[in-house]
Amino acid sequence: MKILFIGDIYNELGQKAFDKYFLEVKNQYKPNFIIVNGENIEKTNGLSEKTYKEYMALGVNVFTLGNHAFSRTDYKEVLDLPYVVRPANYGKYTAGKEYVEIKYNDKKIAVINLIGRIFMHDPTDNPFVKADELLEKITADYIIIDFHAEATSEKYALAYYLDGRVDAIIGTHTHVPTADNIVLPKGTLYISDVGMTGAKYGIIGGSVEQGIRKFITGVPERVKPEKESVLQFNAVLLDLVNKKIERINIFE
Ligand SMILES: [Fe+2]
Ligand SMILES: [Fe+2]
Repeated sequence: MKILFIGDIYNELGQKAFDKYFLEVKNQYKPNFIIVNGENIEKTNGLSEKTYKEYMALGVNVFTLGNHAFSRTDYKEVLDLPYVVRPANYGKYTAGKEYVEIKYNDKKIAVINLIGRIFMHDPTDNPFVKADELLEKITADYIIIDFHAEATSEKYALAYYLDGRVDAIIGTHTHVPTADNIVLPKGTLYISDVGMTGAKYGIIGGSVEQGIRKFITGVPERVKPEKESVLQFNAVLLDLVNKKIERINIFE
């Protein structure tokens, strides 16, 4: 069972990078199942039904999200789409699903999205406790977690906490790919961050000029995406049977 996990597709250049590299990567690695983090895929951030349908038609199986899950006015309808999952630890009163389960031949794959609490702004529940709660009820053959978090310490702690209980824990959110893809002692595949898909030159996808200005002046501004840049495409290939995690980092 090979799973391709593509990291945060960021705005217009993210979609452009996906269009340019997706089929090439898909043909080369031949995954059985494809997960995309789509929390920043639109100009508005968040995910739209239109993009969801387009990407599903190309072979994407599940969209995970993150802190931008609620950025669009139509977020409730989007979270109701069958293969969209938002971070489970926003809790039971929030729109959307805490996990999705999909049949693949005779196997069931569960995809969970969790969000970190360190250096993150939303008052979410404890992701460790939420993971325990979900793992008690999920009966799937394979379980994949997208852990959308800022701090590598929190990511590693969750990874070791769940080692041997899930098949893979894949970090997203920082938009910077890490080189620490490993198989943990009890067999769980792990990487701190897959990295983003979009502008290569930018401040984690945002405008260079604006990003510098914000840090110099301290004046908050809504992030503007970088408009012109060569591209990057970042993903990991998970081989759940042979226990391998391989990085796919394309930098133009
Ligand atoms: Fe993101
Ligand atoms: Fe994020």
